[in-house]
Amino acid sequence: MFKVARESEMKRVALWLLKLKKTGTHGMVLSLTGNLGAGKTTLVKFIGKICGVDSLIVSPSFVLLRIYKGRQDIYFVHLDAWRIGKGDLAFLGFSDLLKNPKAIVCVEWADRVKQAMPAWSTWVKIEHISARQRKVTVSYQCE
Ligand SMILES: Nc1ncnc2c1ncn2[C@@H]1O[C@H](COP(=O)(O)OP(=O)(O)O)[C@@H](O)[C@H]1O
Ligand SMILES: [Mg+2]
Repeated sequence: MFKVARESEMKRVALWLLKLKKTGTHGMVLSLTGNLGAGKTTLVKFIGKICGVDSLIVSPSFVLLRIYKGRQDIYFVHLDAWRIGKGDLAFLGFSDLLKNPKAIVCVEWADRVKQAMPAWSTWVKIEHISARQRKVTVSYQCE
């Protein structure tokens, strides 16, 4: 659990999360939950920057999913499940993306597609405390 006092501190959370990344047979999956304005996209932007994504990360609400090229062959995948419809994930080839060991997949509103999130995903819940303060709770299954 993290107590975040201001937006810039989300970078520390991003760094900590990326340390959980294992080299293995599947990608890293971060399942983000929290209300509108909690800071999901803000956290994804910090994670992307650390992964070497040069281009500006924008909220993918209207295109569902964006893939950016990061450093060291990283594919940085950003999905927003807010407006996801039935069949969209299959259309996007989502389950294959999750399996790619080079992928770092961040999913906003992951609770809306819970059944599609793999057992190995790391759940990140962001709660709004005050204008600048957030509580971030991380949970994941030991492998
Ligand atoms: N500690 C904080 N962490 C994250 N965002 C913060 C924080 N304090 C203020 N903010 C602001 O809250 C908003 C979060 O928006 P956003 O990241 O788009 O949320 P979400 O994607 O969860 O809807 C941004 O305007 C950001 O500047
Ligand atoms: Mg968002």
